[in-house]
Amino acid sequence: MSLMAYDRIARFVGEQSGIQISRDKAYMLEARLQPIIKQFGLSSFEVLANQLTAPSEELRQAVVDAMTTNESFFFRDRTPFKLLDEVMLPKVAEEKRRSGQALRIWCAAAATGQEPYSLAISVLENHRVLAGIDVQILATDISHDALQIAKRGLYNQFEVQRGLSAERMITHFEQCDEGWQAKEELRDMIEFKPLNLMRPFTHLGKFDIVFCRNVLIYFDVATKARVLEGISRQMHPHGYLMLGAAETLIGVSGKFAPTTDHQNLFQPV
Ligand SMILES: C[S@@+](CC[C@H](N)C(=O)[O-])C[C@H]1O[C@@H](n2cnc3c(N)ncnc32)[C@H](O)[C@@H]1O
Repeated sequence: MSLMAYDRIARFVGEQSGIQISRDKAYMLEARLQPIIKQFGLSSFEVLANQLTAPSEELRQAVVDAMTTNESFFFRDRTPFKLLDEVMLPKVAEEKRRSGQALRIWCAAAATGQEPYSLAISVLENHRVLAGIDVQILATDISHDALQIAKRGLYNQFEVQRGLSAERMITHFEQCDEGWQAKEELRDMIEFKPLNLMRPFTHLGKFDIVFCRNVLIYFDVATKARVLEGISRQMHPHGYLMLGAAETLIGVSGKFAPTTDHQNLFQPV
């Protein structure tokens, strides 16, 4: 791929999704876009770069999709879900019981669904704390391909064993020819929607708990700050924001303060 084609494609991906692809990752860009070149019958990366300004939304979405990293697994890092059980759900439930409103959870980079299903399982396991409260879970991601997998909730043996205990697997999943599928009642607890965090998302309404894990790492500092500001506007003052284990807000955003419970658990200020 010529440097010019690389620059144009990387700029396009950055503008569309926030995902930064430095020049030392040019090999990755090339490897991930090769199947798209074939799929759309294009003759070269230069032609692909030119086509990105043409009206084909399908090609643009395919390029963005290909550049996303959808790696995820059930109950990833464990601590966030322990904090969900011990801190977030009990505290927010008190608030909701007072107001009578629904408790709303947003999984803002849901990838192939393991995180929203882990959240839904946690909600079911906390049924006593949540008795009488309407709980809504929204799972969004920029990647249409990942969301399609998430909606189906179908995982192979390796995927289902990554993070799920045998007990949770048997309780919440059904074995079928292709692997294990989340039971209908679990899938029905989650609304899946495509959403680009780079675009306005005020239409989503307010949330009590936001899991935005392992997505900000792909953005530059200015984009992280903008996205975090947007998220802070969508949160109730008593709400909780959970970031990924390697993510920090230090020097990025003053819209949230860490809680005393954990350094990656934040509340709006
Ligand atoms: C590594 S996965 C994280 C999955 C899950 N949150 C976890 O921690 O296991 C990152 C996800 O962020 C999504 N993503 C990247 N840029 C995005 C954007 N601008 N808006 C929404 N989602 C985005 C990708 O499609 C990908 O599925």
